[in-house]
Parts: sequence; C-alpha cells; structure tokens
Amino acid sequence: MGIKITGTGSYAPERILTNAELEKMVETSNDWIISRTGIRERRIAAPNEACSDMACKAATNALAMAGVAPKEIDLIIVASVTPDKHFPSTAAILQSKLDASNATCFDLQAACTGFLYSLECANALMANESNYRKALIIGVEKLSVLTDWQDRNTCVLFGDGAGAVVLEKRTGKKDIGGILASKLGTDGKYCDILQVEAGGSSMPATHETIDKRQHFIRMEGQEVFKLAVNAMSKACRDVLESASIRPEDVRWLIPHQANLRIIKAVGTKLGMREENVFVNLDKYGNTSAASVVIALDEIVRSSKVERGDYLLLTAFGSGLTWGATLLRW
Ligand code: UT7
Repeated sequence: MGIKITGTGSYAPERILTNAELEKMVETSNDWIISRTGIRERRIAAPNEACSDMACKAATNALAMAGVAPKEIDLIIVASVTPDKHFPSTAAILQSKLDASNATCFDLQAACTGFLYSLECANALMANESNYRKALIIGVEKLSVLTDWQDRNTCVLFGDGAGAVVLEKRTGKKDIGGILASKLGTDGKYCDILQVEAGGSSMPATHETIDKRQHFIRMEGQEVFKLAVNAMSKACRDVLESASIRPEDVRWLIPHQANLRIIKAVGTKLGMREENVFVNLDKYGNTSAASVVIALDEIVRSSKVERGDYLLLTAFGSGLTWGATLLRW
C-alpha cells in the first residue's frame, strides 16, 4: 500500500539576520560568507519562541493543505537537535498546542538527517495493517540557542525554522505518489567532528562548561564537507538504483541546505543539471533537521512539482548521519 505526502507546511521566524549584521559581530565579510557558503541571510526565532511554537505553525499549514483535522492525526514525530526541553518530548508539547489528542508522539534525533530518519520511521510504522493512518512529521530547529555568536567558523552558518508534512496511507491503485525508496546511514566514529560537547549526561552543565563555551556547536568544517559530499551522493545513487530510476528522471534533487558548494558537488557527482537542484540556503542558512522539509514545502507551494514527478531528498549531519529518500509526487 505505501504512504504518501498529502500536505506540506513551513514556518520561518520574522527576524532576518543579514551577513552585514554578522560583519559587526565577528571578523567576517559578506563576500567570504557568500563565496564559501552561499548564505546571504538567516532567520532567528524570538526569545520566547520555542521549537514547539514554530513546529505548530508549520504543522497547521501542512494540515490545512492536506485537509486533515488535528484530531485525525495518530502519529507525530518531531526531528530536532534543539528540543524545547530535555523532556517531555517536543512532539508531546506540540500535540497539546495543536490539540491533536489522538496522536502517539515522540522525538527523533538524527541531527540534520532527522527529517529523513523520521520519514523512514513513519513509513515503517504505517506499513500494512497498522493502526497509524495519518501522521505529522516535523523538522524544526532553534539553532540560534546552540550557536556561539563569538565563533566566526560557525555563527555565519545556522538559522532557525520549521517544516512539516502530513503522511497518509495510499488509498488505491490510481494513487501513484509515495515513498519509493530510502537509504539511511550512520558512522559514530566521527561523532566528535560536529557536536555540542556539554549539557548531556557525559558532561553535565557546570559553571566551568559554561565559561569554556562548551554548550555551543563545534565543527571541523573541512572534514565534514568532504564526508558530506561523498555520503549524500552515494546514498542518492543507492536509492535511485534500488528504484531503477536514472538521475535525469529526477525533477528535483532536494539536498540538505548547509553549503552551496556541497550542494553543487553532489549534483555534479550525480550528473544532474543545475536547474534540477533546489537551493534556498541563501535565505535561511543551515536549519539542520528543518532544511530539507522547508525546501520541499517551498517547491510544493510555488507549484514547481507536478503529479508523477520524482523528488530525491538527501541530508547529512552530526553523528555522522546521512540519508536519501526517493519520492514520487
Ligand atoms: O549541517 C551539517 C553538515 N555541515 C556541513 O555540511 C558544513 C560543512 N563545512 C562547510 O560548509 C565549510 O567547511 C565551512 C563553510 C564551514 C568553512 O568553509 P571552508 O572553505 O572549509 O573554510 P575553512 O574552514 O577551511 O577556513 C578557511 C579560512 C580560514 O582562515 P586561514 O586559516 O586560511 O587563515 C578560516 O579561519 O577562512 C577562515 N574563516 C573565515 N573567514 C571569514 C572561517 N570562517 C570565516 C568567516 N569569515 N566566517
């Protein structure tokens, strides 16, 4: 039977942080940021705006597109590295804000690949005769709270935002859309090259960890860059092969929006034309688990996708984690 996406939604906070403003905060330049990353601006959530608030807005938009009421939803998965709290889950908090009281709710953490991991998880949970019939899958981040605004290596990269999809079981043979293939990976030996060191059980918060700024994102950028290009292009090739689809048949490659040079390198490795590779990181920067689903929503809402099109989603992040998912629209 399979499942398909029947609604998409996203939300970007109002506050825009430009490269020109960053030039006043750290030793950087608009030229460096654009030429090394492709990012021009990013959104920053308000101090009182939590991930569940952003997720609620994205989810409301997705539910409206799908024509599904919150009470019809029986599964909510929220992917994020910046949950509202250690516990309860952001998914549970969101359930209450949405009044989706019939949903089973949990969070999933796979960093920037979290949305693709959540899709795969929902796909498995909703398979065959399961009782899960309508699900909300969310990618949401408030990375501004994990960003060291004194570290030029990272503070120019990240942004806040949320994206959501409604998944439903396919109803009949005429329904061509759905998840066709998916490939996920993890390599924990690289867990130190992109991390937030303190604040968990291995290094609880102390005055010392705060003084040493260990509660912020640290990344070995070049190492991550190389691994990202290879892992995403291999995962994409694997899913295309398993579905017997050629790269030239794909209407949109929708890659994790971390760096324009990474995106272009993946497109080139796959042999895809530039006009089929979606880019919006100039407006949002890297929004981790939200990035692919915000991009998907933008494509859907600007009518850049038609029934029957193949969409190839791919992501990469801390863990290290990576994945690719092939959809037919
Ligand atoms: O979302 C999870 C996955 N994350 C990613 O995929 C990110 C992967 N990495 C990257 O996107 C890139 O590695 C970065 C954008 C983070 C960095 O670009 P890079 O071309 O790898 O630069 P680099 O780290 O090698 O730094 C080059 C130079 C250095 O100066 P020296 O040592 O050559 O004098 C840096 O100190 O650029 C300097 N630099 C900056 N200069 C101006 C680093 N950050 C900045 C900055 N402004 N913001």
